[in-house]
Amino acid sequence: MRFGLDFGTSNTTLAVADDAVVRVLPLDPDVGATMPSVLYIRRDGSARVGHGAIDAFLADNAARGPVTREFKLLGVRVPSSDPEQPTVEAHIYTDLASPGRFFQSLKTFLGDPLLQPTNVFGDAKGLQDLIAIVLEHVRRRAHELVGIWPADVTLGRPVEFIGGPEAEARAVARLEEAARLAGFSGVRFELEPIAAARAADVPAGTAVVFDFGGGTLDLCVTRREKERIEILATAGADIGGDRMTQLVIDETVAPRLGADAEWGPKRLVLPRFVTNAIGDWRALSALNEKGLLDALDDLIRAGAPRRELLALRSAIELQLGYEIFAVADAAKCDLSEQPSALVTFHRGLVDVDALVTRRRFEMRIAPLLDRVAALLGTVLERADVRHGAVVEVVCTGGSSAIPAARALLERTFPQARVRNTDLYRSVAAGLAVS
Ligand SMILES: Nc1ncnc2c1ncn2[C@@H]1O[C@H](COP(=O)(O)OP(=O)(O)OP(=O)(O)O)[C@@H](O)[C@H]1O
Ligand SMILES: [Mg+2]
Repeated sequence: MRFGLDFGTSNTTLAVADDAVVRVLPLDPDVGATMPSVLYIRRDGSARVGHGAIDAFLADNAARGPVTREFKLLGVRVPSSDPEQPTVEAHIYTDLASPGRFFQSLKTFLGDPLLQPTNVFGDAKGLQDLIAIVLEHVRRRAHELVGIWPADVTLGRPVEFIGGPEAEARAVARLEEAARLAGFSGVRFELEPIAAARAADVPAGTAVVFDFGGGTLDLCVTRREKERIEILATAGADIGGDRMTQLVIDETVAPRLGADAEWGPKRLVLPRFVTNAIGDWRALSALNEKGLLDALDDLIRAGAPRRELLALRSAIELQLGYEIFAVADAAKCDLSEQPSALVTFHRGLVDVDALVTRRRFEMRIAPLLDRVAALLGTVLERADVRHGAVVEVVCTGGSSAIPAARALLERTFPQARVRNTDLYRSVAAGLAVS
């Protein structure tokens, strides 16, 4: 038996190949083949993965009482601006009752040069440790479903990790270590679009595989003669659905949290690092410290819009980043079927009912789609293939359901057939036979 594991930015999928038969395993007992690539670690150290993580996180957060903070010394001295006292004891205010920590889009950070281990209730966890928990869960589930403990695995990887070529060595090393920590002993890698090409039964002649996921866009040009599939070129970039969801948040939720507010004769605005954090769950939870929350209170006293800043404070304190992300992501997916969608969110002091139209969304994502068009040009150039020579474009990855992305492909390749292969499972299926 050979295992193919697609650890995606948004979704994780596992396939097993037994002779010529490939099965995509139902990783998520309730929902089916794909499992959200998310992790939740409770204060007691217990961890949950996938939908179980989301459910536990939401339940814990809904049930928690008021946020209480405690002053905690970090045991180091840092420089201070006070000439009388050139160094001070470093300290933080920690949220004592926080029931757990939630992690999403972990793959995005694989190539990050500045990553420090994350303090998870007193335990320093590196990114590879966190990903290992997700992969270990997958391995255990495989054992449940097929009766053996997978030892060897073919892991998918993007053509280019987020962070570009510079991120490559770090990202591969971390992903490999995570797989080993999870108990896989033989770890191979295959490029995700090449795996998709294997699973998709690309046509004879020249085709383009278009894998548009949550974190990255991955492309390859294939040439098939009978059963032989040759990969002529690959290209990838950090263009994906998470970015587009952030744009929906900017459009609908951020203005209710003060992102567009201006106040006073000097037309003051919120600092950029605060408004940027609204669309980014990780940055938003990093703002959860007393100094910043006090600063928001000061701004309100100084005339900043009260309702919006209290909503922002509440979003930070209640750690609403993931829930905001989830409603915006769902609205974005609705826009693939409907001309408009509602983003409705009412928690704490955050009250959002905002309509987003497909037109407005398409305006917002236009710069990203320009980069998609440019990357298509790059991969054809690398393959030394003219647009007119492409007979088929095979789409996979959730973001390829976006009508504007399809329209772009149809415009770029007017004579080619644009076809969907299984949007969520083709990469894993291809990995199992790689
Ligand atoms: N109907 C839809 N319309 C628009 N976007 C969608 C739709 N369905 C899913 N998506 C988006 O697709 C992305 C997830 O796709 P997928 O599962 O292929 O990504 P992934 O494999 O986890 O990520 P990556 O391959 O980039 O690491 C998410 O951003 C999700 O919002
Ligand atoms: Mg993918």
